[in-house]
Amino acid sequence: MKDLFGCALLDYQNGNYTKDIITSTNISDEDVLPLPYLFRAFKDMPALEQKALKLCKGSVLDVGCGSGIHSLYLQKKGFEVKAIDVSKGAIEVTKQRGVLHAEVLPLLNEQNTFDTILLLMNGTGIFQELTQVSKYLAHLKSLLNTNGQILIDSSDIKYMYEDEDGGYWMDMNSSYYGELDYFLSYRGEEEAPMKWLYLDFETLKLACDTLDLKCELVLEGEHFDYLAKITA
Ligand SMILES: C[S@@+](CC[C@H](N)C(=O)[O-])C[C@H]1O[C@@H](n2cnc3c(N)ncnc32)[C@H](O)[C@@H]1O
Repeated sequence: MKDLFGCALLDYQNGNYTKDIITSTNISDEDVLPLPYLFRAFKDMPALEQKALKLCKGSVLDVGCGSGIHSLYLQKKGFEVKAIDVSKGAIEVTKQRGVLHAEVLPLLNEQNTFDTILLLMNGTGIFQELTQVSKYLAHLKSLLNTNGQILIDSSDIKYMYEDEDGGYWMDMNSSYYGELDYFLSYRGEEEAPMKWLYLDFETLKLACDTLDLKCELVLEGEHFDYLAKITA
């Protein structure tokens, strides 16, 4: 991985913001991901994220922290927070912005336990593929203290397959419709393609059921997105 995402965060953090990140997927055209959005303040966060932050309790693990916005907010409120990300640049920015405990660490390598685990901005993306959901959920379960909670957001992206007549063009014989190939470029350079998973609530709940995890729908967003709370 070239870590173009981290490079972009570092540029913005260091006052070198001139270009945004460009993303696309195997089912959608190019889209702009504005760098300021990755540094959004609480008041500019989607309601789902604001709700997740309000539900936090005890020690918190922020998985895929990006620039550390959620960690920083919680740390300022007095929470004990650990921020992790696979992006070196993201962790450098998170530290520069004042998050005291931030580490380059893939989720599956985390071993400490927490009262709250946050996965925000399509948190299920980190699972990459439907076949990996159980493995990730089982690992997240092992990181929960007694009465701990996982707060995760995602979207049902079925709408992306809707044609003008209101029908759906997805191939029912292929893999799950929320599994996307995700392409990212920044300043004309292309990142290695990634897999990114959008999971509808019912499928997430089903996966939780098989692991004896309780999955509750906390809040629905304006565009097929939702926040779920998972407990043991
Ligand atoms: C969509 S960004 C969200 C960033 C941040 N949470 C936010 O809301 O602005 C997803 C983040 O997850 C990180 N990530 C992807 N896979 C990961 C993994 N296995 N473990 C930890 N972080 C991961 C990426 O590097 C990226 O920073």
